[in-house]
Amino acid sequence: MCGIVGYIGKRDSQDILLEGLKKLEYRGYDSAGIAVFTKEGLQISKSKGRLAVLEDKLKGEPLAGSVGIGHTRWATHGKPSDLNSHPHTDNSAKFSVVHNGIVENYLDLKDELAAKGHVFVSETDTEVISHLVADEYDGNIVEAVQRAVARMRGAFALGVLTEFEPEKLVAVRFASPLVIGIGDGENFIGSDIPAILEHTRNVYILNDGEMAVLTCNAVELMTIEGATISKEIFHVDWDLVTAEKAGFDHFMLKEIYEQPKAYRDTMLGRVSDDGKSVDLKELSMSDEYIKSINRVHIVACGTAYHAGLVGKSVIESLARISVENDVASEYRYRSPIITPQTLVIVVSQSGETADTLAALREAQRNGARVLAITNVVGSSVAREADDVITTWAGPEIAVASTKAYSSQLIAFYLLGLHLARVLGTQEPAAMEELITGLNALPEQVEKILEQAVVLKQVAESISHHRSLFFIGRGVDYAVAQEGSLKLKEISYIHSEAYAAGELKHGTLALIEEGVPVIALVTQETLYEKTLSNIKEVKARGAHVLAVANSGFEGEVAKSVDEIFAIPKTLPILSPALAVIPLQLLSYYASLALGHDVDKPRNLAKSVTVE
Ligand code: AGP
Repeated sequence: MCGIVGYIGKRDSQDILLEGLKKLEYRGYDSAGIAVFTKEGLQISKSKGRLAVLEDKLKGEPLAGSVGIGHTRWATHGKPSDLNSHPHTDNSAKFSVVHNGIVENYLDLKDELAAKGHVFVSETDTEVISHLVADEYDGNIVEAVQRAVARMRGAFALGVLTEFEPEKLVAVRFASPLVIGIGDGENFIGSDIPAILEHTRNVYILNDGEMAVLTCNAVELMTIEGATISKEIFHVDWDLVTAEKAGFDHFMLKEIYEQPKAYRDTMLGRVSDDGKSVDLKELSMSDEYIKSINRVHIVACGTAYHAGLVGKSVIESLARISVENDVASEYRYRSPIITPQTLVIVVSQSGETADTLAALREAQRNGARVLAITNVVGSSVAREADDVITTWAGPEIAVASTKAYSSQLIAFYLLGLHLARVLGTQEPAAMEELITGLNALPEQVEKILEQAVVLKQVAESISHHRSLFFIGRGVDYAVAQEGSLKLKEISYIHSEAYAAGELKHGTLALIEEGVPVIALVTQETLYEKTLSNIKEVKARGAHVLAVANSGFEGEVAKSVDEIFAIPKTLPILSPALAVIPLQLLSYYASLALGHDVDKPRNLAKSVTVE
């Protein structure tokens, strides 16, 4: 996904911009560029490909100057190319713009500007913004940007420079994140905090419809209509080191190994001292409101959606409230039945996923209360939801989500127990047993991680296959779906997840000699049924790896080719363990195939467009 960084100060800006963009690489991108005020005026250097390509170009033709903006682009309008890369400019080359998001009415604006004589060289919506700002300019860049923005529809974060007012950097946020970094005699903009963290820990987080005018010594905040606003400075107390690899070969592996800590941190302070109940004190929803909830919608995308599938089982079994799951991009278009008695839970690691944010707004528009489960404090989702359960997984850099997913499961367990306590739907002994099981999870994950090497070998053999299947029943099916997505996104091996009992209704036709099938067998009440399904695929030549609860691994071992046992836990808690071997399998398969594990092709960490 696109990244923005901007600098205004006394230092040379080129390296600050490049370093800032490097910190945003994890978001995914296909081209990069910078614009700097040099002695010759506003100069732009940009190119398709990795930042290293741009760096090489700048080695030959550096851009010297102390004010600049930079961008990493993830193509939406127009293919990745030098011309489509940001920053963009207008025909006078006096204005320059970097932009994250999408301008929905850019074609109408483009036609109008073309009729006035503007000539466009790229396919992008962003180029239209630079022409629009130039067209609106009559001596005041702030007002020109405000007039331009008033004419744009869509989602955008902008950084704007003009040669006519080189002492100013204008930043706008409208439905796409942007922060302002406050320095000493210098100021910054960034689409994400890591872009500027090396230089300052004091930031303003812009809200939708807000803008900032930066000079070396001041930051003026206002609405896009021009009304002055004031904001509290947000002090970032986390470290860049936590976002580094800490000795692991890849961020993904590091993040897999961070899961015991992520579980502990997410539970911290939320379980009562006597270990008998869970109280999510951060929730502002009253007990009366909880008692009035008659249905829950869980809405999310990708891996977060898969966490929501487990969340459904957790809430239904612990709190006995009916739950529906929705993919966020579908939710508002299916005209869901939402009432004030519907609790809508949105799940998003980044808290910036456009579809999830849109679903949140749709739910609120219809009078529902929204509870967010997110990993990013201060994210859009966190700020707009009525209640937030933060997963304390720490920054997740690898595109493939691991510790964020499993921490979302912990958040669902805590929520289920909280609701159950208020609703009285569980016996005290059952609650205690669950909490004991929860507390044991971090250590159990550590035990699984100690056996990672076994999975490396299995992954290497899987990596020679073009297609494979994941099967399971109940919550095992939910975990199977996450395992399948993880494998696809980083190893590029085709896989499908199936409810084990559903295979024989069509998909069984695809099972032939040697096809790998990964079967999840953790549910006591379902394991005999799953064993029957395993026999169905074995009879057709499948090579079966079972991930099984150690309680019945002996029985399962008789029916499969390989087995990976996870420590015994309560059935509802097993996803928090069973997913770990699947993450490791995907990681090692990707590694065996020589792929870019942390930055898989075509994907972005934070998907801030619909
Ligand atoms: C995770 O491995 C994926 N890359 C992706 O499915 C992700 O979970 C999805 O885009 C949702 O992101 P979010 O949690 O930041 O909203």
